[in-house]
Amino acid sequence: MLTRLTKNLTYISRIFSQNFGIILLSLLLSNMYQLSAQNEQDEAFDQNIVSSGESLFKGNCTVCHAINEVVIGPALRDVHERQSEEWIYAFIKNSQKVIKSGDEYAVDLYNQYNQTLMTSFDFSDEELNSILTYIKSESAKEVQVAVVDNIVEGGEVSSSISSDNFYLSLGLNIFLLLLLIFILFRFTNLSKKYVILKDNQNKGKLLDDDDKEIVDSGFKINEFIKSNKVVGIASFVFIAVFVKSCIDGLYTIGIQQNYQPTQPIAFSHKIHAGQYEIDCNYCHTGVNISKSANIPAVNICMNCHGVINTDKPEIQKILTAYEENRPIEWVRVHNLPDLAYFNHSQHVAVGGIECNTCHGPIEEMDVVYQYSELTMGWCINCHRESEINSKGNDYYDKLVELHKSSSKEPLKVEDIGGLECSKCHY
Ligand code: HEC
Ligand code: HEC
Ligand code: HEC
Ligand code: HEC
Ligand code: HEC
Ligand code: HEC
Repeated sequence: MLTRLTKNLTYISRIFSQNFGIILLSLLLSNMYQLSAQNEQDEAFDQNIVSSGESLFKGNCTVCHAINEVVIGPALRDVHERQSEEWIYAFIKNSQKVIKSGDEYAVDLYNQYNQTLMTSFDFSDEELNSILTYIKSESAKEVQVAVVDNIVEGGEVSSSISSDNFYLSLGLNIFLLLLLIFILFRFTNLSKKYVILKDNQNKGKLLDDDDKEIVDSGFKINEFIKSNKVVGIASFVFIAVFVKSCIDGLYTIGIQQNYQPTQPIAFSHKIHAGQYEIDCNYCHTGVNISKSANIPAVNICMNCHGVINTDKPEIQKILTAYEENRPIEWVRVHNLPDLAYFNHSQHVAVGGIECNTCHGPIEEMDVVYQYSELTMGWCINCHRESEINSKGNDYYDKLVELHKSSSKEPLKVEDIGGLECSKCHY
């Protein structure tokens, strides 16, 4: 009876150790399957619509709205569950009309937000649909940062959650597997010891030769580690991780995204552009009229800091610079290589693109960092996706009309030569 148990246990242990690789692999696959099933769920939205909605949203709405937090207007997460599509479209087109019609929800909301006027937008139904699709797709994502005291901090939504989960559950599975194997081997060994003891007590009569062979053959940890399968799997994993980190490393060469140098004076956009709502154009005087946005000279700071907070150490630095008639040596954050040509007025004044689209939530930054990649692919992608802005521009109006009569696609920057090398390269 006991010998049979020991025999079976030994077999099971052997099967486990011989097929350890396969078990590991199937665990990995089943985890990946779960992950991809999850991703499919995330991607149930048409990516083209979502991305055009995203650029419309970032260009027009992020000044006042975020998905997960109150900015000037309400957080738009799950707004489609609060109101019907028709209502939302009507509100975006002309919120005042909806409010004046006496719609109870709209009036309450309006009062709740201190009767702040929301801008009216002259969007087509298609554009409205894409914006709402974008909002829906963002709402479907989980919020990464937990709700702290009822304030959604950061409100960043990350797609890395699912891959974190992936590693977590994979780790857990492997741990359980190892535990199981450990218990199994302990059990096998104990029962073997017991059988041998009994055999000795019976002066070797209990076990025949076959049995003895099985009881003697054991699982040897050294052989296991040195076996081809284990060495193979270990080196595969090692090489895969190594190659992945090399590739990741190569992709980031020359990209300065998130670069955030320390500035000589602790100037905060959060205070100036956010809290006091000073227009970007007040300091960056070039954005609408020239290639360069300009960094403000000391004089501009002195307009206010000649009188505001003159006793603070950081402001003292401005005063000293002013008295000594020398510029403040700000550290440049954004810097394209000399071979590329980028023009602010072309994008801001003509194209009607908001600063936030390229520079991110500057109004919330205490210290400015580079929000976008600033790679050639980044410029090109946006030129492929963005429609050109023809409002109040006779030349473009004609061009847009001509284009409309010949094709159904809206006129994109790409169609007016936005992908030609010489437009961006000297
Ligand atoms: C100038 C700031 C501003 C801009 C720009 C703005 N909104 Fe609003 N939005 C508001 C405010 C404020 C409210 C709250 C109602 C009110 O005060 O009129 C609001 C309310 C809404 C609501 C209703 C929210 C709810 O909880 O029911 C929706 C939907 C909405 N905005 C969508 C948009 C979209 C889409 C855009 C971009 C195309 C946009 N808004 C641009 C300020 C703005
Ligand atoms: C009161 C003046 C002032 C206002 C208003 C202001 N800025 Fe600035 N900005 C500065 C100064 C000074 C710097 C240089 C120091 C730094 O990088 O923080 C700067 C730097 C920047 C930079 C980084 C420049 C670089 O080195 O590449 C960007 C981008 C920028 N501002 C965007 C904006 C936007 C967008 C707004 C409006 C929402 C704005 N700024 C409003 C003064 C201002
Ligand atoms: C339009 C007026 C205005 C201009 C222009 C302006 N500031 Fe300010 N600044 C303010 C106000 C208002 C505060 C906040 C004062 C407070 O809340 O104590 C402030 C605060 C600051 C502070 C924080 C002071 C502290 O320690 O509390 C610094 C640093 C600063 N500004 C630097 C600058 C620099 C550098 C410039 C020029 C690029 C500049 N400011 C231009 C209005 C201005
Ligand atoms: C289409 C994208 C885009 C938009 C929109 C945009 N910027 Fe920029 N910005 C850039 C790029 C790219 C650079 C780097 C330019 C370079 O190195 O030649 C830059 C650089 C800057 C700088 C550093 C000084 C300079 O001119 O090189 C400031 C300040 C700045 N931007 C402010 C603004 C402000 C304020 C707005 C909105 C009124 C704005 N930007 C809108 C892409 C953009
Ligand atoms: C957020 C979208 C966006 C990004 C990012 C962007 N652009 Fe543009 N760009 C536009 C739009 C929109 C226009 C068309 C403006 C118009 O004339 O109506 C344009 C026009 C241009 C033009 C003129 C094209 C022509 O045929 O007249 C040049 C040159 C250009 N961009 C260079 C760049 C460079 C260089 C970068 C990257 C550093 C860049 N752009 C990044 C949206 C973008
Ligand atoms: C919309 C603007 C735009 C267009 C169109 C464009 N480029 Fe670029 N290109 C850039 C920017 C911006 C950079 C710098 C990117 C960086 O620093 O990562 C760049 C970088 C490059 C570089 C890399 C240089 C280096 O030092 O690494 C090459 C090569 C290049 N471009 C070739 C081309 C060719 C060929 C075309 C035409 C098929 C073209 N570009 C069209 C904006 C553009």
